Parts: sequence; structure tokens; C-alpha cells
Amino acid sequence: MKIGITTRNMESWSSTQLREALTKRGVPHVCFTFPKLVAWLGKKPYFKVNDVNLMEELDALVIRPIGRGSLEELVFRMDMLYRLERKGFLVINPTEAIEHCVDKYDILALLEDNDIPVPRTVATESVTEALKAFTELGGDVVVKPLFGSRGIGATRLVDSEIASTVFKALTFHHSVIYIQEFVPHGYSDIRAFVIDNQVIAAMRRISESWKTNFSQGAKPTPLELPPDLEELAVKTAKVIGCKIAGVDILEGPKGPVIVDVNSQPGWKGLQMVTKVNVADEMVNFILSELKR
Ligand SMILES: Nc1ncnc2c1ncn2[C@@H]1O[C@H](COP(=O)(O)OP(=O)(O)O)[C@@H](O)[C@H]1O
Ligand SMILES: [Mg+2]
Repeated sequence: MKIGITTRNMESWSSTQLREALTKRGVPHVCFTFPKLVAWLGKKPYFKVNDVNLMEELDALVIRPIGRGSLEELVFRMDMLYRLERKGFLVINPTEAIEHCVDKYDILALLEDNDIPVPRTVATESVTEALKAFTELGGDVVVKPLFGSRGIGATRLVDSEIASTVFKALTFHHSVIYIQEFVPHGYSDIRAFVIDNQVIAAMRRISESWKTNFSQGAKPTPLELPPDLEELAVKTAKVIGCKIAGVDILEGPKGPVIVDVNSQPGWKGLQMVTKVNVADEMVNFILSELKR
């Protein structure tokens, strides 16, 4: 048995943890970045990585951060993963779940269609409509890159003139305008880590500003997730199709809302405040999937 891990940074903390957990269990593995993948048509093997026949020599591919890329790179990467799955190869997370999670509109739309509470959000290519929505959402919104992560590029807008300038700049660069009502969360939120329909660990992230990403400097604190939020996080991961998910929950004045689902979550912050070894749990899950 041999496991492949694709990641953006092979030396990253989470990738290293995962590799160490695999080594501990005696599972051979290889780690590589997406650009190392070569896809063949009209000749086998269909997929090579460093001259290794991927489908013959590996048993599963674990997708760690696929990284920011152009739309062309992203679609090509998804297409390769879809083909691997069509050929019966195990990809974790499932490609469809990864694809949903790339797009913040798509995540929340799927959740809303399954009766999961999400913040009021507007996505549009029209500056005029975005400005109308800005007012309707109370003149206090967060604008986010549709394909963003780690809180990068998200901005809070409370002034219509600045909002107008930002929206015009976004459409000038052919970005979709994605705005969301600001949920007053008191500078803290919840991250639930779900594996195989179970929350294996959770934390409260406490920040000094409205962005509560660990990578933006928020402090992780231990959290025993109440059963209702546990149920909500599990349902969220299930609806998106994530076997492994980082679910972000904001506690707003009208109750909890799901703001983000990560199909390739890191767990450096979480590991600081939980006794559960997250990498071990991931490896247990991968091995159990291979046995199925
Ligand atoms: N509508 C919102 N109201 C208040 N805070 C928000 C809102 N949306 C996002 N945030 C904050 O910004 C952080 C990043 O946003 P998120 O949607 O999780 O995108 P990503 O983590 O992919 O960049 C969240 O963890 C949260 O702290
Ligand atoms: Mg997030």
C-alpha cells in the first residue's frame, strides 16, 4: 500500500504531521505538488508523477491545499481528479466536494438548499445591484474573493462611496462581487473539524479584529462543542460531500450560521488546544476508506 499526498508546500506543518502519522503506522507515502502531475491521453499510464505510474503504484490520493492558481490550473486539476475517480481511484476529499468548497457562493447555496442557516449574502457581476444589496444588507458588509481562503482579500465595508469604488474595481478585473451581511460575532468564531461524519475536535478562535482565521493571528482556545452545533457541523460536511472538513460557525444574533467550509483544512491551531491527534485520526480514516 502507498498513499500519495498532493500539497502546495511539502514542508508545511500539516503536511509534515500527516507524513509523520503515516510513517508511524508504517504506511509508505509520497508527497508532491500538483505541477508534478502529468496527464496522458492515448497512452498509458494516464497519470504519472515523477515518472511513477500513479494509478498502479499508489492506492489513494489525499488532497492537501491545492493552492491558489489560475482558473485554468484549477479546472485542469479538478478534471484530473475527476478522471482518477472515474477509473475507480480513491481521492480524499472527493473531487466534487473540493470543487464545491473552492467557490464560496456554491458552498452557501448548497447549504441553504439543505436548510442549513447561512448569512444573507449577495453575489453579482453588477455594480448597481451590489450597491442596492449593500444598503439592503444594512450598509455593513464583508466583501470576499469568491475563491479566497485564509481571510486574504476579505474587507469590511461600511461606507457606500468606498463600497462603490471597491465594487467597480472588482468588476474591472472581472471578479464576481460577493458580499455578505456583517455578523456581529464579538471577534470570535468556532472551527469544527469533521472526519467521516464526526466532529473529532473543535476550537473557539479569538481574534483582535473581525477576521478570526488562525493564519490572521487569532488565538485558538479549547472548546467542547454543544450537541446542536456538532449536529450542524456534521450535517454541513455531509451536504457538501466532505469526508474531512473544517467548518466555520459564526454565532450571530439570530443563532449560528455557517460562513465557510474548508475541504483541505489545516489544523496547527486546533492541535494546540485538543488532545486528539488530528493527523492520526486522518490516517485512521484514510486506511478505513481503503479497506471499504
Ligand atoms: N459575514 C461575516 N461577518 C463577520 N465576520 C465574517 C463574515 N464572513 C467572514 N468573517 C470573518 O472572516 C473570516 C474569513 O472568512 P471566511 O468566509 O471563513 O473565508 P476564508 O477563511 O476562506 O478566507 C471568518 O473566519 C470570520 O472571522
Ligand atoms: Mg474560513
